[in-house]
Amino acid sequence: MATWDPDRIENVEQLEEMLSEPTEAVIEMLRRLPGDIVILGVAGKVGPSLARMVKRASDAAGTRRRVIGVARFSRAGEEAKLKAKGIETIKADLLDPVQLEKLPDAPNVVYMAGQKFGTTGNESLTWAMNSFLPGMVCQRYRHSKLVAYSTGNVYKMKPVVAGGSRETDRPEPLGEYSMSCLGRERIIEYFSRTMKIPAALIRLNYACEMRYGVLVDMAQRVLAGEPVDVTMSCLDLIWQGDANVMTLLAFEHLASPPFVVNVVGPEILSVRQLCEEFGRLLGKKPNIVGVEAPDAGLADGGLAHRLFGYPRVSAGQIVRWTADWVKRGGESLGKPTHFEVRDGNY
Ligand SMILES: NC(=O)c1ccc[n+]([C@@H]2O[C@H](COP(=O)([O-])OP(=O)(O)OC[C@H]3O[C@@H](n4cnc5c(N)ncnc54)[C@H](OP(=O)(O)O)[C@@H]3O)[C@@H](O)[C@H]2O)c1
Repeated sequence: MATWDPDRIENVEQLEEMLSEPTEAVIEMLRRLPGDIVILGVAGKVGPSLARMVKRASDAAGTRRRVIGVARFSRAGEEAKLKAKGIETIKADLLDPVQLEKLPDAPNVVYMAGQKFGTTGNESLTWAMNSFLPGMVCQRYRHSKLVAYSTGNVYKMKPVVAGGSRETDRPEPLGEYSMSCLGRERIIEYFSRTMKIPAALIRLNYACEMRYGVLVDMAQRVLAGEPVDVTMSCLDLIWQGDANVMTLLAFEHLASPPFVVNVVGPEILSVRQLCEEFGRLLGKKPNIVGVEAPDAGLADGGLAHRLFGYPRVSAGQIVRWTADWVKRGGESLGKPTHFEVRDGNY
């Protein structure tokens, strides 16, 4: 692994290099894994760095494979950036069966298209994206292996003292977004069972990098003197580069019915403490409001850490990088996580 400055990520180019840096384990896995990889929903917050990691690891492994990213590419410039890094791109609306059918076959599929924010008032699109589309994709790619993103939101909130939810806990989603994500899991499970599709469901909890994530949200508010509500007392998160590693390593744990794994870091973090730390690093007094509730939405990453290894980057490290980035006015995607939401309405 390249040596990273503990205090600073200089710019977006360096950040993107870091997020897409594969580990030896990913390189070895991609050496063993035959065939092309299609990434559905490549143009969002996570997809570009995952696609680049696949490409870099495949090149390092000396394997020739097509890495194909599919999205509508509604964010300007994303398609050209991916192409420049050797990733093939296809502009398609996945909800259109004709366009879905025309996509190239590939033995490996990463499924990351989804809809979260804007659910309230547009519930039907969220259900179509999160619960109906997975069925269309399973039918289209019924001969492929499938690694599909899900979310820790499928769990109910639990007392913080009980620790994070485990994969064996019964999902009890709150609100239509989270319910539709459980729908995604169940539909993929159904097709995995009936069509014998080897699949994995990645329950991701708060991927973080410098341009978005719970820490960026908090740091920006502390810097601006805006209130931070601590009713959601604790949260967990993971460096997006580490989430990418774990997601890709899941290709060697596929099963029918699907293998389910939480992808999250090891720390349970106090929102109040994080704000105080950002206050110290940014020279601002945090404006903390609310009273900590006894329960929070947390997931336990023990299984992922045992199978895939510990994350390379600690939460404390991401905090320091984020404070420095936000202080310098670094680029932000302007996509708040709404981590404080407790009623499931996004
Ligand atoms: N980021 C996190 O911290 C986090 C946490 C938990 C779970 N997850 C899950 O992980 C997955 C990836 O996360 P993300 O943050 O990268 O999501 P995201 O930013 O919302 O990206 C979604 C992707 O899907 C594409 N898409 C949406 N509708 C489409 C359509 N009709 N046809 C083709 N492409 C479409 C979007 O690109 P276009 O708009 O350009 O088409 C984008 O590439 C999601 O399924 C999410 O539920 C993420």
